[in-house]
Amino acid sequence: MTATTPSGSAEAGRFITLEGVDGAGKSTHLQAIGDWLRARSLELVQTREPGGTALAEQLRELVLHQPMDTLTEALLVFAARRDHLQNVINPALARGAWVLCDRFTDASFAYQGGGRGFDLATLGLLENWVQQGRQPDLTLWFDVPAATAATRRAAARAPDRFEAQDEAFFDRVRTGYLARAEAAPQRFARIDASHSVEAVWQQVLAVLQARWPNA
Ligand code: TYD
Repeated sequence: MTATTPSGSAEAGRFITLEGVDGAGKSTHLQAIGDWLRARSLELVQTREPGGTALAEQLRELVLHQPMDTLTEALLVFAARRDHLQNVINPALARGAWVLCDRFTDASFAYQGGGRGFDLATLGLLENWVQQGRQPDLTLWFDVPAATAATRRAAARAPDRFEAQDEAFFDRVRTGYLARAEAAPQRFARIDASHSVEAVWQQVLAVLQARWPNA
């Protein structure tokens, strides 16, 4: 299998991202998705955003824990993304590895755009500028109502700056994801994550097998 890079050269790697509101349960399935891909003898780079490089992990700490205005927040998540693309994601795809990333730019549109109300056109400019055409091949969107996610989060650890937000914020984040999914239906697969872990996994598996029957 080959794909075309932004620069037009052929590459065999695939770029898969996981998205959803905090508490949707995507982290529960991250390892199993990685195992499914590795079982197909693929070189898999498993990573996350914000983060994935030493610099981007430092930016993550700031974004998750330091007070800042929304423009600063948007610039920092895209700065982290730039470093991650340059040093990890693009080189991996270029050598034919597959990349599995816990969150990517859809999270910026959902959290900074939807949740915080930051200007979507500016986010689009940053997306073009930073990514130079790079987009995931598949985005698994773990979708649950904000209230369900809140119940699941309540059982988890101390909240960061995003997890501490109210249900209305996560409603807007979910609406932000929906808008991105509607704008790129061929890239997005919506997973109804309101069911049991096993039922959600069966949906994920069906999407992966349909996309890459011979992977
Ligand atoms: P998350 O991916 O949920 O990690 P963990 O499971 O370790 O908590 O946390 C990352 C947080 O960062 C999440 O609340 C969403 C937020 N975020 C943004 O606001 N914008 C972005 O562009 C990205 C990638 C994440």
